[in-house]
Amino acid sequence: MANGSRPEWGTRFGFIMAAAGSAVGLGNIWKFPYITGENGGGLFVLIYLVCVALVAMPIMVSELLLGQGSRQTPVGAFHFFHREGSSWGMAGWLGVLAGFVILSYYSVVAGWAMHYVLLSLTGFTSQGPEAIGETFGKLYTAADLNLLWHTLFMVLTVGVVIGGVKKGIEKTCNVLMPVLMLLLVFIVIRGIFLPDNGFMKAVEFIFMPHAEMLSAHSVLEALGHAFFTLSLGMGAMLTYGSYLGSNKDVVRSALSVSILDTVIALLACMMIFPVIFAFGYEPEAGPGLVFKTIPIVFAQVPGGQFLSLCFFLLLLLAALSSAISILEVVTATLIDRLDWQRRKAAILSGLVIFVFGIPSALSGSGKLFGAWQEIFGRNFFDTMDYLASNWMLPVGGLLTSIYVGWIADETKVRKAFGAEHHSPWLYIGFRLLVRFVTPVAVTLVLLNKVGLLG
Ligand code: PHE
Repeated sequence: MANGSRPEWGTRFGFIMAAAGSAVGLGNIWKFPYITGENGGGLFVLIYLVCVALVAMPIMVSELLLGQGSRQTPVGAFHFFHREGSSWGMAGWLGVLAGFVILSYYSVVAGWAMHYVLLSLTGFTSQGPEAIGETFGKLYTAADLNLLWHTLFMVLTVGVVIGGVKKGIEKTCNVLMPVLMLLLVFIVIRGIFLPDNGFMKAVEFIFMPHAEMLSAHSVLEALGHAFFTLSLGMGAMLTYGSYLGSNKDVVRSALSVSILDTVIALLACMMIFPVIFAFGYEPEAGPGLVFKTIPIVFAQVPGGQFLSLCFFLLLLLAALSSAISILEVVTATLIDRLDWQRRKAAILSGLVIFVFGIPSALSGSGKLFGAWQEIFGRNFFDTMDYLASNWMLPVGGLLTSIYVGWIADETKVRKAFGAEHHSPWLYIGFRLLVRFVTPVAVTLVLLNKVGLLG
């Protein structure tokens, strides 16, 4: 284990940009708006905020402290806080496996964003609404296009990771994140000037809780999403934490990253819903909200082509900075555990993930594993998404909280938490959350999924 030469972030700002880059992704711009739409807005948002604060934040702190304290990737970190060779190392390997699964289909969606960037450049928004609406179906079923974009996106991701922690990831995220925020704020501000009071309707939809929409399902969906959007449960934050100098405060870092991620998710809603309301569309469009509805509505706004370009570029940047963090978990684990060179580790793991992603890229065309749908009830792509976001990440998060709360050496945890620099109540609060609240909440989510909660 090449611990002496462990890379470190250049600046605290760089770390925050990289970690926020990991957190802010398709989850924020694509998924959060559509599930907010499906779950009726305000109250769902409120519940989501509570889930982030009480359940996800303790796991984020846990992951960062495991990484920073051990200066190792997930497997080594789970050994370090327990004992060398501990079977808890398996929890680390589960994270690496989740990385393979997530990136393999994440890259396909990111590829769609690339395709839409190109379409926006060539002015597809000037077609009629019907033609624009059909664009997505055409892309989804085109095997060659999906393969092409999947390949390009993986090459891009591997390229950044080869560059290393400081020169590849940090440098890239230092540019990507501010550009992303500028684009986002620009589209939100543009929304203020939309007709039919669209902006105010959106603000009301997002921030005014309506009690009648409350259902147990919404609560569990909000909780599950809090994991995915904060990149928790697979060691991404843990790995980024391992490059954090020992003098950096993990609680403050977790707070900054969670706040940034949440603000961006809310801004994403404020970017999408004003146009939806201004032109009389329904917020419950589901997963197609971003790729189908948005281009159709943008086409009706003056300057829609430019808006559409900004929007899909933003989606692509968000996806890229998240994909980098997923590949980094796999790459850095191979470097730590097998002493591989970074270049070799990044290329080989990228190649395996690429190949593993081919059935997902071809899912829409039905070209490979066509019978998968009949056997499992969802196509290969959907199966990977379901497996990762519904099972692997929550289980990973559950294991992390049980480990930090009950198994890990408490003296080491207390030290890595920086307990002596904070009020004793902060550490006590963290410990209560991580020992009881988080594991119970995640267990409820999992029980609900196997249908035991009705
Ligand atoms: N947080 C990312 C998003 O919101 C997805 C992700 C999950 C990234 C797990 C890394 C690890 O899109």
